[in-house]
Amino acid sequence: MSSDLSAVILAAGKGTRMKSELVKVMHPLEGQPMVAWPVDAARAAGAGRTVVVVGHQGEAVREHFVDATDLAFVTQEEQLGTGHAVACAVPALETAGGTVLILCGDVPLLRSDTLRGMIDLHRESGATVTVLTTRMADPTGYGRIIRDATGRIVRIVEQKDASPAELTVDEVNAGIYCVEAPFLFEALRGLENDNAQGEYYLTDIVAAAEARGLDCRPCLVDDSDEVMGVNDRVQLARAGAVIRLRTCERLMRDGVTIIDPAATYIDPTVAIGRDTTVHPGACLRGTTVVGAGCIIGPGTVITDCRIGDRVEVKAGTVMESSVIHDEAAVGPMAHLRPGTELMAHVKIGNFVETKKARVGEGSKASHLTYLGDAEIGRDVNIGCGTITCNYDGIKKHCTVIGDGVFVGSDVQLVAPVTVGNNALIAAGTTVTKDVPPDALAISRTPQVNKEGWVKKKAQGSGLKAQD
Ligand code: UD1
Ligand code: CA
Repeated sequence: MSSDLSAVILAAGKGTRMKSELVKVMHPLEGQPMVAWPVDAARAAGAGRTVVVVGHQGEAVREHFVDATDLAFVTQEEQLGTGHAVACAVPALETAGGTVLILCGDVPLLRSDTLRGMIDLHRESGATVTVLTTRMADPTGYGRIIRDATGRIVRIVEQKDASPAELTVDEVNAGIYCVEAPFLFEALRGLENDNAQGEYYLTDIVAAAEARGLDCRPCLVDDSDEVMGVNDRVQLARAGAVIRLRTCERLMRDGVTIIDPAATYIDPTVAIGRDTTVHPGACLRGTTVVGAGCIIGPGTVITDCRIGDRVEVKAGTVMESSVIHDEAAVGPMAHLRPGTELMAHVKIGNFVETKKARVGEGSKASHLTYLGDAEIGRDVNIGCGTITCNYDGIKKHCTVIGDGVFVGSDVQLVAPVTVGNNALIAAGTTVTKDVPPDALAISRTPQVNKEGWVKKKAQGSGLKAQD
C-alpha cells in the first residue's frame, strides 16, 4: 500500500435514470453492489486511505461496508455536483499532499491493471492531472475531451453544455482521475456552477490546470467497455454481461468448459477446477468452489457450496451452503438446503430435498424424498417417498440411520428416532420407535382382499363394471 495515494469514490447521487427506490450504486451487479466494484479497484491499485462520498441512502452504503476498516465515509447532504462531492471528501482524506485517485461509484467495469497503468503514467509523466479517456462510437451523455491544436487537453465539456461542434468529439471523459492533492484542493475551492446543470463540475479542474499552465494528460483506454458509466438499467444489464464474460473467459483459459458463456451466470468469486463442464443456465454464486472433472448441468443454482471432484449436478438442481464430496451425483431437480453434506459416491435423485442432512458414503436417495435433520450412514438405500418427520410443530428433531440400512418406499421416520445398522424398514412403515440393528421394522394394516367387490359395487349402483 502506497501511503501517498489516497482515493475518493463518488457515490452520493440518487441515480434518477434507474427509476428505482434503491439508490443507483447499491443495485446488485454480479454478486455485489455496483459501488463495491470501484472500491475493489481502488484497493487493487494500492490506495491507502479511501473516502466514499455518500448521500442518497448513504446508510445502506455504509452498512454494506460495515466491516471494511480501510474505508472512510463522508456524507454529501445536497448533490451539488461531482466537484462539490470531492470537496466534501477533502477533510476526510487527512492529507495535504500525495496523489488523489478519483473514481465514480457508477463506473464498475474498470480493470485494476488499467488503473495501475494510469497511476504509473501519472507518476512517470509528472502531470498534475491525468484523466482517463476513451473513444466511443456513441459518446452521448459523456463529457467530451477538448484538445488544442497541439493535442493537449484544455478542458472537458459536458453533453448539456457542449456546442454542436464539441458534440461531434468522440473522445470522452471516463470520470476517473489522478490529481496532485495541493492543486486539487485549491482548484476545488475555485469551482463555479455557472453551467447548464447549475452544478459544481469536477471536470472544470482540467481548465483550471490549463489556466495555471499545469500539465494535464489523458490516459486513453482502448476498451471503452471498461469505462462505461451505468446510469440506467439497460447499462446495468450490459455491465453484468461484460463482467460475466470476463469471468467465463478467465475460467475457460484455466481449463473449464463453458458451453455457452453468454448464458452462464458465475460470480467472480467462484472457483472451478479443470475439465469441469458448465452447461447453459447454470448460476454459480458466492463462495462456491467446484472441483475438477465435474458436470454442472443446465439450469442449476449453486450458492456457497463446496463440491469435490467428478461430481455430477444434474439439470434444475438447487443447492445452498452444502458440501458434496467426490463422485457424488445430485439431481435432476434436487434441492439441497443449508447444512447438507453428501459423502463420496452418494446419489441424490429427482425431487429429493435435504436440509441439515449428512449422507454417508455410497448411500442413495433416488426419488421423491425429504431428509431433514438427519444423520445417515454408509451404503444406505432410502426408498422412494421416504420422509423424515423432523418437526413436531414446536421443535425440530433428528433422525439417525445406521450403515447398510434399507429403507423401503413410502416410509415415514417420526423423529427423534434411531435405526440401527443393517436394519430393514418395510415399505409403507411409519417408524415411531427406535429400530435395533439387523431388525425388520414393519407397521402396516394387514391387507384384506374382498373377492368380486368391485363388480358387485358397480352393479348395485347401476354403473357398468369394468372387465
Ligand atoms: C460524469 C462526468 C462526465 C463523465 C461521466 C463518466 C462531471 C460533471 N461529469 O457525468 O464528464 O463523462 O461522469 O461516467 O463530473 N455524484 C456525487 N455527488 C454529486 C453528483 C454526482 O456523489 O453531487 C456521483 C454519482 O453518484 C456518480 C458519479 O458521481 O457515482 C457521477 O455522477 P453522474 O451524475 O452520474 O455524472 P455524469 O452525468 O455521468
Ligand atoms: Ca454517470
